Amino acid sequence: MPALPRSTRESLGIALDHDSPLPDQIVTGIRDLVARGELRPGEPVPASRKLAGHLGVSRGTVETAYAQLAVEGYLLTRERSATIVDPDLPAALLRRAQAPAPPTVPRRPPRRLIDLRPGHGGDDPLRDPAFRRAWRDALDVDPGTTDPLGQPGARWAIADHLRLLRGMSVDPHDLIVTSGSRDGLRLLFASGLTGPIGVENPGFPGLRLAMSDRELIPFDVSTGLDIGRLSDLEGRAAAIVVTPNHQFPHGTTMPVSTRIALLTWAAEAGIVVIEDDYDSEARFQRTAVPTLFDLAGSMELDVDLVHIGTFSTLLTTAVSTGYVVARGGRFGTAMAEVRSSWGPAIAPVLQSAVAGYLESGGLRRRIARGRRRLRAAEAVVAEVGTLPGLVHEGRTLVIETSAREARRLQSELLERGIRVASLADGWSGDSAVRHGIVLAHSNVEASVLRRVLGEIRELGDGGA
Ligand SMILES: Cc1ncc(COP(=O)(O)O)c(C=O)c1O
Repeated sequence: MPALPRSTRESLGIALDHDSPLPDQIVTGIRDLVARGELRPGEPVPASRKLAGHLGVSRGTVETAYAQLAVEGYLLTRERSATIVDPDLPAALLRRAQAPAPPTVPRRPPRRLIDLRPGHGGDDPLRDPAFRRAWRDALDVDPGTTDPLGQPGARWAIADHLRLLRGMSVDPHDLIVTSGSRDGLRLLFASGLTGPIGVENPGFPGLRLAMSDRELIPFDVSTGLDIGRLSDLEGRAAAIVVTPNHQFPHGTTMPVSTRIALLTWAAEAGIVVIEDDYDSEARFQRTAVPTLFDLAGSMELDVDLVHIGTFSTLLTTAVSTGYVVARGGRFGTAMAEVRSSWGPAIAPVLQSAVAGYLESGGLRRRIARGRRRLRAAEAVVAEVGTLPGLVHEGRTLVIETSAREARRLQSELLERGIRVASLADGWSGDSAVRHGIVLAHSNVEASVLRRVLGEIRELGDGGA
């Protein structure tokens, strides 16, 4: 005896609405009946024409739903016989049928926020005509055989870009395309780099999260890197991650003398140096300082150095493209082997688009626009005058506050549609954490920045 009441046997008691596709609603309705035991294994479901008539939908809609349920294993369709609930319906499917419905995806995209978190936002590069042209061109050209290390066109274009904008001398054969700095780190770790890692304190929280399965040994760089303080890492750390060109979040640049001392120390201590050179090509600093990668090459030091770069800060995380460079050494070959077994980090067609954008000079022009915008942002900061706790360096504004005030500012700004980063997130939990908010102030036009700083001043006055 079917458990389904006679009155609803032909319509299955399914009520349809206009919020989701009709076949999906029929599928969910039948799964629920099975879950509640109202349709049992072996029992027939109504003929598709009949059910369609009862529900007021086309027969094709019901057939689509039945076909999906047959693929999922709920229904058994038989030649010239009624479709039935599969008599051998596995217990696992019965359990799945009982599982709560997946959360519905909101149809309307969330409100667009002013995103001032470093590494996010910026003027919308996807609307840059040069980038759009590069995309279209990439779709017109066969990307050729997929190379897991990166398409030759992309590797050559990136090496050229580094030569022109960073003064780096990179053999494209030593360069592997990644999906960003964090992907570069993961590739290195999978290539035999085991053991604890020394990390800057403060530093970019995203990198620290990407290494959360490692023992991390923080070293203080709040007043610059002091090589003397690195002795703590000797005999303990396998590698050290540094951002010599643009320390996060304070934006300081490591002087050449410190770079040389760091490389000499690492060579003697047998510690691998990971140079995170994010957005250095932009040369927002007044003077260009050679990379650790180039210095190590010219000093002919026996040091293992892996250079990690990304386009996610110069372009957008939506493009998620980066690279690692290792000139031979312990990891050059190992990383190539691992990447070959993993397959390409990003789609070859995206690599072609990025290569086209670099070759057309699009990124160079974007960087020039970014420099102009940084100057305009600096002018706004000067015009707004003193904000209590404001530390202004490089491409970020840091406003130091108490922990409570930082939380209040962050949440009240969010309520006003402005997203900023937390200074404390950059600090290791077990150190003397500093609190406040961090803003990549040149992410927005001067007029928007003026408004944001006005809001911060107003909120600051309110909290005082
Ligand atoms: C120090 C540092 N490294 C790397 C990145 C970018 O990382 P990814 O390429 O993984 O997005 C950022 C972004 O702000 C950063 O601040």
